[in-house]
Amino acid sequence: MPNGTLLLAPSRLRLTRTPGARRVIRGFAGSRLVGALAAPHGVDRYLELVLPSFSLYEPRAEIVDVDRRTPESVTLRLRPSEVWRGFQSGQFVSMTVEIDGVRHTRCYSPASSQHAADGKLEFTARTHPEGLVSRYLREDAHPGMVVELTQAGGDFVLPAPRPEHLLLISGGSGITPVMSMLRTLCDEGHDAPVTFLHYARHECDVAYRVELAELAGRHRNVRVAYVYTREPGGRLHGHFTRAQLRALEDRYRQAEVYVCGPPGLIEATRGLWARDGHPERVHSESFLQPRLPATPDEEAGSVRFAASDVQVSATGVTLLEQAEQAGLSPAFGCRMGICHTCTTRKLAGTVRNIYSGELSSCEEQAIQICVSVPAGDVELDL
Ligand code: FES
Repeated sequence: MPNGTLLLAPSRLRLTRTPGARRVIRGFAGSRLVGALAAPHGVDRYLELVLPSFSLYEPRAEIVDVDRRTPESVTLRLRPSEVWRGFQSGQFVSMTVEIDGVRHTRCYSPASSQHAADGKLEFTARTHPEGLVSRYLREDAHPGMVVELTQAGGDFVLPAPRPEHLLLISGGSGITPVMSMLRTLCDEGHDAPVTFLHYARHECDVAYRVELAELAGRHRNVRVAYVYTREPGGRLHGHFTRAQLRALEDRYRQAEVYVCGPPGLIEATRGLWARDGHPERVHSESFLQPRLPATPDEEAGSVRFAASDVQVSATGVTLLEQAEQAGLSPAFGCRMGICHTCTTRKLAGTVRNIYSGELSSCEEQAIQICVSVPAGDVELDL
Protein backbone atom coordinates (compact mmCIF):
# COMPACT_ATOMS: atom_id res chain seq x y z
CA MET A 1 0.00 0.00 0.00
CA PRO A 2 1.46 3.40 -0.90
CA ASN A 3 2.33 5.66 2.00
CA GLY A 4 0.00 8.38 3.12
CA THR A 5 -2.77 8.16 0.54
CA LEU A 6 -6.29 8.89 1.65
CA LEU A 7 -7.70 5.52 0.71
CA LEU A 8 -11.36 4.87 0.22
CA ALA A 9 -12.84 1.60 1.40
CA PRO A 10 -15.35 0.24 -1.16
CA SER A 11 -18.11 -0.16 1.45
CA ARG A 12 -17.73 3.46 2.50
CA LEU A 13 -17.78 4.57 -1.11
CA ARG A 14 -21.08 2.74 -1.67
CA LEU A 15 -22.50 4.40 1.44
CA THR A 16 -21.65 7.94 0.29
CA ARG A 17 -23.17 7.26 -3.12
CA THR A 18 -26.58 6.52 -1.63
CA PRO A 19 -28.53 9.80 -1.79
CA GLY A 20 -30.57 9.01 1.33
CA ALA A 21 -27.46 8.17 3.36
CA ARG A 22 -25.73 11.30 2.12
CA ARG A 23 -28.70 13.42 3.18
CA VAL A 24 -28.69 11.92 6.67
CA ILE A 25 -24.94 12.41 7.10
CA ARG A 26 -25.16 15.93 5.71
CA GLY A 27 -27.99 16.85 8.08
CA PHE A 28 -26.28 15.36 11.12
CA ALA A 29 -22.73 16.54 10.44
CA GLY A 30 -23.93 19.97 9.35
CA SER A 31 -25.76 20.66 12.61
CA ARG A 32 -24.48 23.44 14.83
CA LEU A 33 -23.91 21.04 17.70
CA VAL A 34 -21.58 18.83 15.63
CA GLY A 35 -19.89 21.91 14.21
CA ALA A 36 -19.21 23.19 17.73
CA LEU A 37 -17.90 19.79 18.87
CA ALA A 38 -15.57 19.58 15.86
CA ALA A 39 -13.98 23.00 16.47
CA PRO A 40 -11.29 24.10 15.86
CA HIS A 41 -10.57 21.65 13.00
CA GLY A 42 -13.96 21.68 11.31
CA VAL A 43 -16.36 18.84 10.54
CA ASP A 44 -14.63 17.83 7.30
CA ARG A 45 -11.38 16.95 9.13
CA TYR A 46 -13.32 14.29 11.11
CA LEU A 47 -15.54 13.13 8.25
CA GLU A 48 -12.47 12.29 6.13
CA LEU A 49 -11.42 9.71 8.72
CA VAL A 50 -14.52 7.61 8.05
CA LEU A 51 -15.74 8.78 4.63
CA PRO A 52 -12.73 10.11 2.68
CA SER A 53 -14.62 11.28 -0.40
CA PHE A 54 -17.44 12.94 1.54
CA SER A 55 -17.29 16.50 2.80
CA LEU A 56 -19.66 19.28 3.76
CA TYR A 57 -17.59 22.30 2.90
CA GLU A 58 -14.21 21.48 1.29
CA PRO A 59 -14.31 19.78 -2.12
CA ARG A 60 -12.70 16.37 -2.44
CA ALA A 61 -12.23 14.21 -5.51
CA GLU A 62 -11.77 10.51 -6.15
CA ILE A 63 -9.22 9.54 -8.78
CA VAL A 64 -10.94 7.36 -11.39
CA ASP A 65 -8.16 7.01 -13.96
CA VAL A 66 -4.38 7.43 -14.08
CA ASP A 67 -2.57 7.77 -17.41
CA ARG A 68 1.23 8.01 -17.61
CA ARG A 69 1.17 9.12 -21.23
CA THR A 70 4.58 10.81 -21.46
CA PRO A 71 7.85 9.88 -19.74
CA GLU A 72 7.65 12.92 -17.44
CA SER A 73 3.98 13.45 -16.67
CA VAL A 74 0.91 11.89 -15.18
CA THR A 75 -2.67 12.58 -16.21
CA LEU A 76 -5.37 12.10 -13.58
CA ARG A 77 -9.12 11.99 -14.08
CA LEU A 78 -11.12 12.76 -10.96
CA ARG A 79 -14.72 12.66 -9.84
CA PRO A 80 -15.26 15.74 -7.60
CA SER A 81 -17.58 15.62 -4.59
CA GLU A 82 -20.95 17.37 -4.43
CA VAL A 83 -19.61 20.58 -2.92
CA TRP A 84 -17.39 21.25 -5.96
CA ARG A 85 -18.77 24.34 -7.72
CA GLY A 86 -17.14 23.88 -11.12
CA PHE A 87 -14.58 26.06 -12.87
CA GLN A 88 -13.98 28.26 -15.87
CA SER A 89 -11.36 27.01 -18.32
CA GLY A 90 -7.98 28.54 -17.54
CA GLN A 91 -8.48 28.67 -13.76
CA PHE A 92 -6.40 26.70 -11.26
CA VAL A 93 -7.23 24.43 -8.34
CA SER A 94 -5.10 23.60 -5.30
CA MET A 95 -4.81 19.87 -4.67
CA THR A 96 -3.71 18.46 -1.32
CA VAL A 97 -2.27 14.98 -0.88
CA GLU A 98 -0.79 13.34 2.17
CA ILE A 99 2.67 11.85 1.77
CA ASP A 100 4.24 10.01 4.69
CA GLY A 101 1.82 11.69 7.05
CA VAL A 102 2.52 15.22 5.81
CA ARG A 103 -0.04 17.18 3.80
CA HIS A 104 1.28 18.84 0.65
CA THR A 105 -0.63 21.29 -1.55
CA ARG A 106 0.10 22.15 -5.16
CA CYS A 107 -1.74 24.12 -7.85
CA TYR A 108 -2.90 22.56 -11.09
CA SER A 109 -5.05 23.87 -13.92
CA PRO A 110 -7.72 21.46 -15.14
CA ALA A 111 -7.18 20.43 -18.77
CA SER A 112 -10.76 19.23 -19.15
CA SER A 113 -13.60 21.23 -20.65
CA GLN A 114 -15.56 23.31 -18.15
CA HIS A 115 -18.63 21.72 -19.77
CA ALA A 116 -17.43 18.08 -19.48
CA ALA A 117 -20.64 16.05 -19.69
CA ASP A 118 -19.51 13.52 -17.08
CA GLY A 119 -18.46 16.29 -14.65
CA LYS A 120 -14.98 14.80 -14.31
CA LEU A 121 -11.85 16.86 -13.93
CA GLU A 122 -8.58 16.11 -15.66
CA PHE A 123 -5.18 17.30 -14.45
CA THR A 124 -1.80 16.66 -16.01
CA ALA A 125 1.19 17.13 -13.73
CA ARG A 126 4.68 17.30 -15.13
CA THR A 127 7.25 15.60 -12.93
CA HIS A 128 10.44 17.33 -11.88
CA PRO A 129 13.38 15.60 -10.18
CA GLU A 130 12.79 17.74 -7.07
CA GLY A 131 8.98 17.80 -7.44
CA LEU A 132 7.82 15.80 -4.43
CA VAL A 133 4.08 15.87 -5.19
CA SER A 134 4.31 15.41 -8.96
CA ARG A 135 6.65 12.40 -8.51
CA TYR A 136 4.36 10.97 -5.86
CA LEU A 137 1.33 11.31 -8.15
CA ARG A 138 3.19 9.73 -11.07
CA GLU A 139 4.41 6.80 -9.01
CA ASP A 140 1.58 6.19 -6.56
CA ALA A 141 -1.69 7.73 -7.77
CA HIS A 142 -4.31 5.04 -8.41
CA PRO A 143 -8.06 4.75 -8.95
CA GLY A 144 -9.93 5.02 -5.65
CA MET A 145 -7.46 7.43 -4.07
CA VAL A 146 -9.09 10.58 -2.69
CA VAL A 147 -7.48 14.01 -2.75
CA GLU A 148 -8.58 17.36 -1.36
CA LEU A 149 -9.28 20.26 -3.67
CA THR A 150 -10.04 23.93 -3.27
CA GLN A 151 -12.68 25.67 -5.33
CA ALA A 152 -11.25 27.00 -8.60
CA GLY A 153 -9.61 30.42 -8.69
CA GLY A 154 -7.72 32.78 -10.99
CA ASP A 155 -8.68 35.27 -13.67
CA PHE A 156 -6.89 33.69 -16.64
CA VAL A 157 -10.21 32.93 -18.31
CA LEU A 158 -11.88 33.47 -21.66
CA PRO A 159 -14.25 36.44 -21.83
CA ALA A 160 -17.93 36.17 -22.68
CA PRO A 161 -18.85 36.57 -25.45
CA ARG A 162 -15.93 34.60 -26.86
CA PRO A 163 -13.46 36.54 -29.04
CA GLU A 164 -13.83 36.36 -32.81
CA HIS A 165 -10.23 35.29 -33.37
CA LEU A 166 -8.18 33.40 -30.79
CA LEU A 167 -4.56 32.42 -30.55
CA LEU A 168 -3.79 29.96 -27.73
CA ILE A 169 -0.06 29.66 -27.01
CA SER A 170 1.52 27.32 -24.47
CA GLY A 171 4.93 26.07 -23.45
CA GLY A 172 5.65 22.83 -21.57
CA SER A 173 3.16 22.12 -18.79
CA GLY A 174 1.45 25.45 -19.57
CA ILE A 175 -0.57 23.39 -22.04
CA THR A 176 -3.23 22.43 -19.48
CA PRO A 177 -5.23 25.69 -19.08
CA VAL A 178 -5.23 26.40 -22.83
CA MET A 179 -6.16 22.77 -23.55
CA SER A 180 -9.15 23.36 -21.27
CA MET A 181 -9.99 26.54 -23.20
CA LEU A 182 -9.85 24.73 -26.53
CA ARG A 183 -11.98 21.81 -25.29
CA THR A 184 -14.47 24.28 -23.79
CA LEU A 185 -14.73 26.27 -27.04
CA CYS A 186 -15.29 23.07 -29.02
CA ASP A 187 -18.01 21.95 -26.58
CA GLU A 188 -19.70 25.34 -27.03
CA GLY A 189 -19.74 24.95 -30.80
CA HIS A 190 -17.51 28.02 -31.18
CA ASP A 191 -16.86 28.35 -34.91
CA ALA A 192 -14.52 31.37 -35.18
CA PRO A 193 -10.81 30.75 -35.91
CA VAL A 194 -8.76 29.27 -33.07
CA THR A 195 -5.05 28.58 -33.50
CA PHE A 196 -3.34 26.40 -30.89
CA LEU A 197 0.44 26.83 -30.84
CA HIS A 198 2.39 24.66 -28.42
CA TYR A 199 6.11 24.71 -27.59
CA ALA A 200 7.81 21.58 -26.23
CA ARG A 201 11.39 20.41 -26.04
CA HIS A 202 10.63 17.12 -27.80
CA GLU A 203 7.65 15.56 -29.53
CA CYS A 204 7.40 12.89 -26.82
CA ASP A 205 6.84 15.62 -24.19
CA VAL A 206 3.46 16.68 -25.63
CA ALA A 207 0.76 15.17 -23.41
CA TYR A 208 -2.24 15.97 -25.62
CA ARG A 209 -1.14 15.11 -29.16
CA VAL A 210 -3.92 12.58 -29.74
CA GLU A 211 -6.71 14.80 -28.39
CA LEU A 212 -5.44 17.87 -30.28
CA ALA A 213 -5.30 15.97 -33.56
CA GLU A 214 -8.80 14.71 -32.95
CA LEU A 215 -10.16 18.21 -32.17
CA ALA A 216 -8.45 19.73 -35.23
CA GLY A 217 -9.90 16.89 -37.34
CA ARG A 218 -13.45 17.47 -36.11
CA HIS A 219 -13.49 21.29 -36.04
CA ARG A 220 -12.58 23.13 -39.24
CA ASN A 221 -11.94 26.40 -37.36
CA VAL A 222 -9.24 24.80 -35.15
CA ARG A 223 -5.60 24.76 -36.24
CA VAL A 224 -2.88 23.07 -34.19
CA ALA A 225 0.88 23.58 -34.58
CA TYR A 226 3.81 22.30 -32.53
CA VAL A 227 7.21 23.85 -32.17
CA TYR A 228 10.00 21.67 -30.80
CA THR A 229 12.88 23.58 -29.31
CA ARG A 230 15.37 20.69 -29.10
CA GLU A 231 14.61 18.57 -32.13
CA PRO A 232 13.22 19.00 -35.65
CA GLY A 233 9.87 17.51 -36.59
CA GLY A 234 7.36 20.16 -35.52
CA ARG A 235 5.63 22.49 -37.94
CA LEU A 236 8.11 25.16 -36.79
CA HIS A 237 11.39 25.06 -34.90
CA GLY A 238 13.13 27.05 -32.13
CA HIS A 239 11.88 29.64 -29.68
CA PHE A 240 8.96 32.02 -30.20
CA THR A 241 9.48 34.59 -33.00
CA ARG A 242 7.35 36.82 -35.19
CA ALA A 243 8.50 34.81 -38.20
CA GLN A 244 6.86 31.72 -36.70
CA LEU A 245 3.56 33.55 -36.28
CA ARG A 246 3.73 34.87 -39.84
CA ALA A 247 4.37 31.37 -41.11
CA LEU A 248 1.33 30.17 -39.20
CA GLU A 249 -1.28 32.76 -40.09
CA ASP A 250 -1.47 36.20 -41.75
CA ARG A 251 -3.96 37.75 -39.33
CA TYR A 252 -2.18 36.94 -36.07
CA ARG A 253 -2.12 40.67 -35.09
CA GLN A 254 -5.91 40.73 -34.84
CA ALA A 255 -6.08 37.74 -32.50
CA GLU A 256 -6.89 37.81 -28.80
CA VAL A 257 -3.98 35.87 -27.29
CA TYR A 258 -4.01 33.53 -24.27
CA VAL A 259 -0.53 32.34 -23.36
CA CYS A 260 0.64 30.09 -20.53
CA GLY A 261 4.16 28.81 -20.01
CA PRO A 262 7.64 29.83 -18.87
CA PRO A 263 8.50 33.53 -18.41
CA GLY A 264 10.57 33.74 -21.62
CA LEU A 265 7.63 32.69 -23.78
CA ILE A 266 5.27 35.09 -22.04
CA GLU A 267 7.66 38.04 -22.23
CA ALA A 268 8.31 37.37 -25.92
CA THR A 269 4.58 37.23 -26.65
CA ARG A 270 3.81 40.35 -24.63
CA GLY A 271 6.73 42.21 -26.21
CA LEU A 272 5.62 41.40 -29.72
CA TRP A 273 2.04 42.61 -29.24
CA ALA A 274 3.31 45.69 -27.31
CA ARG A 275 5.53 46.63 -30.25
CA ASP A 276 2.51 46.30 -32.50
CA GLY A 277 0.56 48.70 -30.26
CA HIS A 278 -1.88 46.17 -28.79
CA PRO A 279 -0.51 44.93 -25.43
CA GLU A 280 -4.08 44.58 -24.14
CA ARG A 281 -4.69 41.64 -26.48
CA VAL A 282 -2.30 39.37 -24.58
CA HIS A 283 -3.61 37.52 -21.50
CA SER A 284 -1.08 35.39 -19.68
CA GLU A 285 -0.45 32.96 -16.87
CA SER A 286 3.10 32.03 -16.00
CA PHE A 287 4.08 29.05 -13.89
CA LEU A 288 7.49 30.60 -13.22
CA GLN A 289 7.64 34.34 -12.87
CA PRO A 290 10.85 36.37 -13.15
CA ARG A 291 11.83 37.81 -9.82
CA LEU A 292 13.02 41.41 -9.37
CA PRO A 293 16.67 41.73 -8.30
CA ALA A 294 17.20 41.64 -4.53
CA THR A 295 17.83 44.93 -2.73
CA PRO A 296 20.39 45.39 0.11
CA ASP A 297 17.72 45.71 2.83
CA GLU A 298 16.43 42.19 2.01
CA GLU A 299 19.58 40.70 3.50
CA ALA A 300 19.56 42.88 6.60
CA GLY A 301 17.45 42.49 9.72
CA SER A 302 15.79 39.50 11.28
CA VAL A 303 12.68 37.39 10.82
CA ARG A 304 10.79 36.28 13.87
CA PHE A 305 8.27 33.42 13.63
CA ALA A 306 6.30 34.34 16.73
CA ALA A 307 4.03 31.27 17.06
CA SER A 308 7.05 28.94 16.80
CA ASP A 309 9.28 31.15 18.93
CA VAL A 310 12.01 31.03 16.27
CA GLN A 311 14.15 33.96 15.13
CA VAL A 312 16.59 33.95 12.20
CA SER A 313 18.65 36.49 10.26
CA ALA A 314 17.21 37.54 6.89
CA THR A 315 19.05 35.94 3.97
CA GLY A 316 17.30 37.60 1.00
CA VAL A 317 15.06 34.62 0.20
CA THR A 318 11.28 34.65 0.50
CA LEU A 319 9.66 34.35 3.92
CA LEU A 320 8.36 30.91 2.91
CA GLU A 321 11.89 29.70 2.08
CA GLN A 322 13.21 31.38 5.20
CA ALA A 323 10.63 29.53 7.33
CA GLU A 324 11.49 26.19 5.68
CA GLN A 325 15.21 26.79 6.23
CA ALA A 326 14.39 27.38 9.90
CA GLY A 327 12.76 23.93 10.08
CA LEU A 328 9.13 25.12 9.96
CA SER A 329 6.54 23.63 7.60
CA PRO A 330 4.17 26.38 6.47
CA ALA A 331 1.40 25.39 4.07
CA PHE A 332 1.99 26.33 0.44
CA GLY A 333 0.59 25.53 -3.00
CA CYS A 334 1.78 27.36 -6.09
CA ARG A 335 4.79 29.13 -4.55
CA MET A 336 4.18 32.01 -6.96
CA GLY A 337 1.50 34.20 -5.42
CA ILE A 338 -1.60 32.74 -7.05
CA CYS A 339 -3.35 30.33 -4.71
CA HIS A 340 -3.13 32.12 -1.32
CA THR A 341 -2.41 28.80 0.48
CA CYS A 342 0.63 30.34 2.17
CA THR A 343 -1.19 33.43 3.45
CA THR A 344 0.12 34.30 6.91
CA ARG A 345 -0.48 37.18 9.28
CA LYS A 346 2.36 39.66 9.45
CA LEU A 347 2.52 41.10 12.94
CA ALA A 348 5.16 43.79 12.34
CA GLY A 349 7.69 45.04 9.80
CA THR A 350 7.86 45.75 6.08
CA VAL A 351 7.87 43.19 3.26
CA ARG A 352 8.51 43.56 -0.46
CA ASN A 353 6.69 41.67 -3.23
CA ILE A 354 9.37 39.90 -5.29
CA TYR A 355 7.50 40.42 -8.58
CA SER A 356 6.06 43.92 -8.28
CA GLY A 357 8.57 45.42 -5.83
CA GLU A 358 5.63 46.85 -3.85
CA LEU A 359 6.32 47.49 -0.15
CA SER A 360 3.76 46.68 2.57
CA SER A 361 4.28 48.16 6.00
CA CYS A 362 0.87 47.83 7.67
CA GLU A 363 0.87 45.90 10.90
CA GLU A 364 -1.48 42.96 11.38
CA GLN A 365 -1.69 42.26 7.67
CA ALA A 366 -2.27 38.99 5.77
CA ILE A 367 0.59 38.43 3.31
CA GLN A 368 1.55 35.70 0.84
CA ILE A 369 4.88 34.58 2.23
CA CYS A 370 5.91 32.75 -0.97
CA VAL A 371 6.26 36.08 -2.81
CA SER A 372 7.33 38.31 0.08
CA VAL A 373 10.84 39.10 1.24
CA PRO A 374 11.57 41.06 4.41
CA ALA A 375 12.73 44.65 4.08
CA GLY A 376 14.20 45.03 7.56
CA ASP A 377 12.94 43.29 10.71
CA VAL A 378 9.73 41.29 10.26
CA GLU A 379 7.54 39.32 12.65
CA LEU A 380 5.09 36.69 11.43
CA ASP A 381 2.32 34.78 13.20
CA LEU A 382 3.82 31.45 12.19
S1 FES B 1 1.82 29.20 -2.12
FE1 FES B 1 0.32 29.93 -3.51
S2 FES B 1 0.20 32.04 -3.03
FE2 FES B 1 1.83 31.33 -1.81
